[in-house]
Amino acid sequence: MRKLGLVALSATLLWACVDTQNENTSTVTAIADQPDATMVKSLMDVGKDYHSFANPDEIRVTHLDLDLTADFDAKKLNGQVTLSVERQQHSVDTLVLDTRELTINQVTVEGEPVEFRLSEADEELGSALTITLPKTASKVTIEYATSPDASGVQWLTPAQTAGKKHPFLFTQAQAVHARSFIPLQDSPQVRVTYDAIIRTPEELRAVMSASNDPDTDRDGEYKFTMPQPIPSYLIALAIGNLEFKAMGERTGVYAEPEILDAAAKEFEDTEAMLEVTEKTYGPYSWERYDLLILPPSFPFGGMENPRLSFITPTVIAGDKSLVSLIAHELAHSWSGNTVTNATWRDLWLNEGFTTYLTYRIMEMVYGKNRFKKEAVLGYQDLEADIEALDSNDEILAIDLRGRNPDDVFSNIPYEKGALFLRELEQKVGRDNFDEFLREYFKHFAFKSITTDEFIDYLDKTLLSEYSEKLDRERINQWIFEPGIPDGAPQPHSNAFNKIDAKRTAWLNGKMSAAKIDTHGWTVHEWLYFLNNMPGALDEEQLAELDKAFSLTNSKNNEIAHSWLLIAVKNEYKPAYSRLYDYLVSIGRNKLVKPLYRELSKTAEGKAFAKKAFEEAKPGYHPLTVKANEGFVN
Ligand code: BES
Ligand code: ZN
Repeated sequence: MRKLGLVALSATLLWACVDTQNENTSTVTAIADQPDATMVKSLMDVGKDYHSFANPDEIRVTHLDLDLTADFDAKKLNGQVTLSVERQQHSVDTLVLDTRELTINQVTVEGEPVEFRLSEADEELGSALTITLPKTASKVTIEYATSPDASGVQWLTPAQTAGKKHPFLFTQAQAVHARSFIPLQDSPQVRVTYDAIIRTPEELRAVMSASNDPDTDRDGEYKFTMPQPIPSYLIALAIGNLEFKAMGERTGVYAEPEILDAAAKEFEDTEAMLEVTEKTYGPYSWERYDLLILPPSFPFGGMENPRLSFITPTVIAGDKSLVSLIAHELAHSWSGNTVTNATWRDLWLNEGFTTYLTYRIMEMVYGKNRFKKEAVLGYQDLEADIEALDSNDEILAIDLRGRNPDDVFSNIPYEKGALFLRELEQKVGRDNFDEFLREYFKHFAFKSITTDEFIDYLDKTLLSEYSEKLDRERINQWIFEPGIPDGAPQPHSNAFNKIDAKRTAWLNGKMSAAKIDTHGWTVHEWLYFLNNMPGALDEEQLAELDKAFSLTNSKNNEIAHSWLLIAVKNEYKPAYSRLYDYLVSIGRNKLVKPLYRELSKTAEGKAFAKKAFEEAKPGYHPLTVKANEGFVN
């Protein structure tokens, strides 16, 4: 499946030569500035997963049987996994797995111990576990325990939950953290089915990215099965005082009882979203679609774990204003979970397609005006990133060799990817593009594909069908070059023109804040109003805005975020007590990281950030700690 390919890279890159002798520590050596900078090339094995030690091309894991006990006192998952394997090459008898901070107690085949070796740990990628398998072995069992500091598991104390009485556990495997709670081939090009038994304290309930039975007895032993092959980054587990409430025929919510009703109300349109997405992009492949609402330390907005998306509680705003997140995680059921990126270089195939689908779903369920506003806000986020990022990081098919995918998180795969698809849609027409996507999801169903395989497919389909409207050069520019190509679609919202006029009138002193008519403003108007303020505002202006609109006390976490960022940029101290509470109570990285980054720019800000960070740290997820500790130290 892998091929050594010549990959066109950005015009600004140096000619690079990869040392492929040592695959896991490949180094890139710049040789020279090329005179013909338009087609600079670098040798890259485009199908190779540079973030896994595993050897699926030799022996491939196809199924997992998990039996794990959650020990909340020791903060450990203890137990075993049995891996079913399929030999791809007859002569090979070593199975290589990914692990990270796991204690491996024993490895057996049919009850007999076999030899294994754990390599020295790589800081980003963990340790390879090499197992010698007897020639005839088709299953191998590993007894192991996780570390209390596992990068993919967060153990919460009762104080960190909504109910304050019971502890909570959740996993977050994407991108390279499944290996911190299961020894496996942790690469998105390896798909497995799984069965699991999870043992918990009796009063708690476990759920997984698998079949969940809402009526299961609470007896401390839960069984799951995931019959469709999924990549390892979609294996997920949560344990807590969870209850279930149905929202529709195929949709429901799991949450702590304290927030269950609010969540079910906020997300009641999920069933409608599922229906319009199926109608447009083909049948939903995963039977049920449920949501799990996590405590506020969940480091992401959402995670598309199949059949059960994991969702931050920070989007329960009371007015459905932030539900595009649900459309996004649902859309991943097609783009990501059914058709999966083969390596993290190809993440844009997951996130760009999903962001494009999200806009379409939002338009179908809530109408054109809301779609237009969300598209403008997304475009502005993209512009801000393009302003801030190195040009190499603006490339959709990004070169991640030697880097941790977590460290490269940006709007590029999301919004630039979506914009690219919107251009294709506009060129060939909406109905034709919808048909193309339906076929694409069918053609690659339950496969993991590279950017290059996508381009091959595009060549054979849209590009040959609409050769007068599309060309390869333009496609290559979108995928392999930085920035937004000239002539790209530019979202526009008339509703926002009015906001510009009001902001300008206020800034010019022609209208007081109290006189601005904000009647009917949704979160989108507020975000647009705030995000497009000039960098510098004086104390009086800030106090005027705050007095008129109670921004410091906004209950909407996105509006509060935008306002607090303005407050930090201008050192508006009356907002700092809210800022402190915000940083300490929310662990969603997208909301806290820009605040830490901005605070870290002054000595006083940094001291404040450090104090908040130290208080928050015991409650933050390991990913949020890692992403922000650099700003306070
Ligand atoms: N799959 C992502 C989260 C992710 C991406 C985790 C890469 C680790 C590595 C999820 O679907 C996502 O995109 N979440 C966004 C949602 C937003 C764009 C609506 C988030 O959490 O902010
Ligand atoms: Zn996503």
